[in-house]
Amino acid sequence: MTVRLGVIGGDGIGPEVVAEARKVLDVVLPDVQATEYDLGAARYHRTGDVLPDEVLAQLAGEDVLLLGAVGDPSVPSGVLERGLLLKLRFAFDHYVNLRPSRLWPGTSSPLAGVAPGDIDLVVVREGTEGLYCGAGGSVRKGTAAEVATEESLNTRYGAERAVRDAFDRAMRRPRRKVTLVHKNNVLVNAGDLWARTFAEVAAEYPDVQTEYQHVDAAAMFLVTDPQRYDVIVTDNLFGDILTDLAAAVTGGIGLAASGNINPTRAYPSMFEPVHGSAPDIAGQGVADPAAAILSTALLLDHLDRPADARRVEEAVGAEVAKRVPGEKLRTAEVGDAIAAALAG
Ligand code: NAD
Ligand code: IPM
Ligand code: MN
Repeated sequence: MTVRLGVIGGDGIGPEVVAEARKVLDVVLPDVQATEYDLGAARYHRTGDVLPDEVLAQLAGEDVLLLGAVGDPSVPSGVLERGLLLKLRFAFDHYVNLRPSRLWPGTSSPLAGVAPGDIDLVVVREGTEGLYCGAGGSVRKGTAAEVATEESLNTRYGAERAVRDAFDRAMRRPRRKVTLVHKNNVLVNAGDLWARTFAEVAAEYPDVQTEYQHVDAAAMFLVTDPQRYDVIVTDNLFGDILTDLAAAVTGGIGLAASGNINPTRAYPSMFEPVHGSAPDIAGQGVADPAAAILSTALLLDHLDRPADARRVEEAVGAEVAKRVPGEKLRTAEVGDAIAAALAG
């Protein structure tokens, strides 16, 4: 069956890493009908629009989406991030923002005493609520009396579906453990909603071990004892921050993949690296495409092709294992090597 793939390269290194991910998909998923979408800073400067309704409607007709990154120093911060990336996550109800972190064989962690295989965790980051909902505002802007607020939206429905996904996921993993990360000692309203929801869902999963941690402690344990984690479930902003940290202790942001998933399949899910558009290295051909390529493995899982997904992960792992520390990589060479290994 032909898979309709919507491709949004986006900004900065986005198109560079997506080009490499496409090479890999061409090998493992040849029956693809790909459509490239011209979205991001260039379009914004040319037309003034970010994501017109007709483009959103066209994207809704794709089976899956592959995105590079959005955001550019020439555009005010937030215009593209909110108007394009978050708009897609919200419009397509991507309530599971799935972010695995694994220390691949051959990868070195900046942490002492951690060996490949020791860290294998996945963060289920709630993707449609929290501080990302856009509620709040500012008054008396630019004056000494300026006040700015951002409100965190948390619904029972939203927390429960993320928590359930985390428990279902834990049941499919050998260690069967879920950690709820929040800050219920301060955020007493949302924290209490999350903790109660977690406890009630946990009661339905007697085989799953549970723990609760405040987010500050979790940040600490991700550095001192990352082995303790299996599945972490958390809200949108905590998940954003913790997954950059989890990436850093498992070989770096260049290896961190993610999926913005709507498990009901009512809308296309979207796969993208955790990293951003990296303006500091854009255009040089030195970005690591591994995160984008590993995101295609999550895409393949979503298409119920786990054998292909594992093949892609193994090929990336083998390429990463061959890297010489300190040697600059070339984006296209990494993609070529991984695609060739898969084709071979
Ligand atoms: P960033 O992830 O783009 O970069 C942080 C650092 O990591 C930079 O030094 C960068 O060079 C490095 N880096 C990132 N990806 C890399 C890769 N594949 N290979 C090698 N090095 C890599 O985060 P930032 O600097 O905070 O944000 C830059 C822009 O990207 C901003 O506009 C931000 O809003 C946007 N952003 C977008 C996404 C997304 O589209 N999902 C995610 C994060 C940030
Ligand atoms: C990410 C990014 C986005 C987020 C931004 C660019 C809106 O940091 O995908 O992790 O905060 O979710
Ligand atoms: Mn982020």
